[in-house]
Amino acid sequence: MRIGGETTRSIVPGADGASFRVLDQTLLPWRVEWLTIRDAGAAAHAIRSMQVRGAPLIGATAAFGLALALREGASDAALAEAESALAATRPTAVNLAWALARVRRAAASVPPADRAARAWAEAIAIADEDEAACAAIGRHGLPLLSAIAARKGRVNVLTHCNAGWLATVDWGTATAPIYAAHDAGLDIHVWVDETRPRNQGGALTAFELGAHGVPHTVIADNAGGHLMQRGAVDIVLVGTDRVARNGDVANKIGTYLKALAAHDTGVPFWVALPFSTIDWTVADGLRDIPIEERSAREMTHVHGQAEDGTPMTLRVVAPGSPAANPAFDVTPARLVTGLITERGRCAASEGGLRRLYPDAA
Ligand code: MRU
Repeated sequence: MRIGGETTRSIVPGADGASFRVLDQTLLPWRVEWLTIRDAGAAAHAIRSMQVRGAPLIGATAAFGLALALREGASDAALAEAESALAATRPTAVNLAWALARVRRAAASVPPADRAARAWAEAIAIADEDEAACAAIGRHGLPLLSAIAARKGRVNVLTHCNAGWLATVDWGTATAPIYAAHDAGLDIHVWVDETRPRNQGGALTAFELGAHGVPHTVIADNAGGHLMQRGAVDIVLVGTDRVARNGDVANKIGTYLKALAAHDTGVPFWVALPFSTIDWTVADGLRDIPIEERSAREMTHVHGQAEDGTPMTLRVVAPGSPAANPAFDVTPARLVTGLITERGRCAASEGGLRRLYPDAA
């Protein structure tokens, strides 16, 4: 990723092993500010408050957070307590529990005196693997976009929320094929769903695509179906927070409606993910993936910037009206054309996933 003229990643471990830096995403796109995290409490706060967000980045942040906790106390009890505090921050993205379990297992395999260093090394490995996985997703998704380009020239992609480098360590999941296509010289344009209530599309995906020079247009969440009916969308590409064994995918609220519209209009609907987003323990995503309920204030109020650059929070809902804020929905596998992973593409089904991951438990 390139930000402020610098090539970097969304999460940067300190050389001393005592802190790491993340971009404060609650300030984007208005201000680019790095946040230095020095303890597990600050890591948990960053995840809960969505200073960091996006399934793979939540996992990497929790991994570094758990390693920092072990600098304070490395007994079995301290390890378990820090893991459960970090795990409680957000319920839907399985990358969180996956990364924590991986760091806990690594730390528990050595004596307490060595645990912080072992955990830190594991967190670095998780971050490195996420970057490599996302780059591979780009390579495996590119042929889908090249085929459209060969048929009709310009490729119009629609995406929802932010499944870009801000949501991962680098490249993004849904955006990785987009960046690969743009860098390969394809004529690609992205319809960016605004993604109410928190506007991850309008604020973050638009910011990222703009920084990379990818042509894009932000649309209201309700515009996608109409654009698909008009033939203005060639492919929908989204990320996911948890894929069940049967291929059901949880993603940002509103994804399901895009999948329905894509199904009705014959537009291919692809979901991009690294291995860390597959939950082999969930057999039926619609039934068993937990859906985070966030504060109603995210619905009733929007954050933005006044014309003169002053940050503003504005109420946009009638005073006194209650609001609800389910943050994710589940798209059933039958509406998903296919999955793009770091190992290749597959059907959204247990058979498809097992073909790519025969080694999974
Ligand atoms: O609530 P958020 O912003 O963390 O939700 C993020 C998403 O829904 C992304 O699409 C998902 O995590 C995929 S990230 C590569």
